[in-house]
Amino acid sequence: MIILGGSASSDLAEKVAKEVGENVGRLEIDQHIYADLHIFELLMIVDTLRDLQAKTITVVAPYLAYARQDSRFYPGEALSSQVIARLLEDVGTTKFLTVDCHLHRLGDVAKIFKIPAQNLSAMPLLGKYALKTIHPKKPFVIGPDEEAEQWAATVAKELDAEHTVFQKKRVRKEGATESKVEITATEVDLKGRDAVFADDIISTGDTLAKATKICKKMGARRIYALCTHPVLADGALMRVKSAGIQKVIGTDTIPSIVSQVSVAPVIAAALKS
Ligand code: R5P
Repeated sequence: MIILGGSASSDLAEKVAKEVGENVGRLEIDQHIYADLHIFELLMIVDTLRDLQAKTITVVAPYLAYARQDSRFYPGEALSSQVIARLLEDVGTTKFLTVDCHLHRLGDVAKIFKIPAQNLSAMPLLGKYALKTIHPKKPFVIGPDEEAEQWAATVAKELDAEHTVFQKKRVRKEGATESKVEITATEVDLKGRDAVFADDIISTGDTLAKATKICKKMGARRIYALCTHPVLADGALMRVKSAGIQKVIGTDTIPSIVSQVSVAPVIAAALKS
């Protein structure tokens, strides 16, 4: 037997292990307390609706927390995105909708659900909003990594601009719990042009800050960032602004001070159809 203690009972787990003469297993817990609260609330809502005999229950999760964990990057890691999908199905969800879901390795949100699941995109709205509010000059749209190609291409279409993607590597040193981002630029001529980043998430802001510094060196005039989910961990906005970002435009999938574009029309259209 291996005794494992969750973060609420780690001391007690040690004591129980001692009493039974067994070992305590080591857990590394990376909690998303804000997200966990909402996930649990959602599970309760859906379960109650099922109890109340709802015929169908469509869950719209504008930002699917834990989606980035769609693979075990290191041995022993939880497959969090699959866990969330299974829980939602178990309590009675019959259809699932989300927005610009980050399932880069799996590609399609339908792959983690057995029920019908659909991914919507906020990028056309973000592109339109950028066009009429920032009026970018000779814009060049950039995805900070290869996975952002789809979003950069959509925004470029709205801005009638060229687009490219940079290359990103996450490097985790032996024994470290955090990984560091390394970005390599694609050679493009940004001199005198406005660079517009398009990405799904700004979390720590590290990706964007590094990509922005590169664009500045390449001669970009002004640099903007469009993102669907402004997760904005502590200090993220400051980090990207000091790197040289003029303005961040996000959506209301996560309410924040940069949430200027609402995804309500995209969700409403999907529900109507
Ligand atoms: C990763 O591949 C995503 O598309 C985002 O670029 C990433 O989640 C941003 O994270 P952070 O702001 O912490 O660098």
